[in-house]
Amino acid sequence: MPGVFQLSVDQAVQEAAAAKGDGVPAVLLFGLPAEKDASGSGASDPDAPVQTAIRALKREIKDLIVITDVCLCEYTSHGHCGIVEGDDIVNDITVMHLAQAALSHAVAGADIVAPSDMMDGRVAAIRRTLDERGCERTAIMSYAAKYCSGFYGPFREAADSTPQFGDRRSHQLDPANVDEAMREVEIDIAEGADIVMVKPALPYLDILTRVKERFAQPTAAYQVSGEYSMLKAAAQNGWLDERRVMFETLIGIRRAGADMIITYYAREASRLL
Ligand code: PBG
Ligand code: ZN
Repeated sequence: MPGVFQLSVDQAVQEAAAAKGDGVPAVLLFGLPAEKDASGSGASDPDAPVQTAIRALKREIKDLIVITDVCLCEYTSHGHCGIVEGDDIVNDITVMHLAQAALSHAVAGADIVAPSDMMDGRVAAIRRTLDERGCERTAIMSYAAKYCSGFYGPFREAADSTPQFGDRRSHQLDPANVDEAMREVEIDIAEGADIVMVKPALPYLDILTRVKERFAQPTAAYQVSGEYSMLKAAAQNGWLDERRVMFETLIGIRRAGADMIITYYAREASRLL
């Protein structure tokens, strides 16, 4: 992805400080462990890159909101978002691992944990675990309506998290399905999500509008890696005016109902706003 890099903890602090300087209020952290294993054990390691980065960011940068992606796919050798038995992801065991990962982020100082796995019951399990361990002030942003999308391709390459077999259709939403997205959002809110997210953004603006109108909750939209990369590629070919289409997409997402936008254009857009 042009302009997007894997960073060490010290580089992440520099990048986040510069982003804050550009007017970006929050960062969303993803981790790449030194080693991956079948159970994704690196996800809850207190000394892994994300947990270390959280502590460094909270120590070094005043008022930066630190959000963490909670999933196992960056940590599992098979690239799936959970614990696998045969060809299936085992939901409830996975949820226990996710709750431990979220707890390790909260203990390190994360302001918001953001489960992106789409397992059933994970928001409730994370909320319970955080509350039991004194982290009741840590908020949850759930990837509530996360569609099974081809637009995650560049991210998976960057995070080395492409499933080694199968796909994510067992837990991510069917692009044709509206009702299921509404149910997923409703359940996540009932389980204690403070912010619900729709993802990807541009191909699902109708979902975003419906979620915002129906539930009236803090609602985020994630302009994902493929949405960003295709604008970049077209701009690099001289086919599109990048600044113009960047703002046009961000404005469209905002107009559709997003209270907040997660985007790889965050620094560039903030600088120009
Ligand atoms: C991990 C995760 C993914 C993204 C965010 N968290 C990839 C996936 O579900 O395969 C996608 C982000 C992007 O494409 O920018 N579950
Ligand atoms: Zn995942």
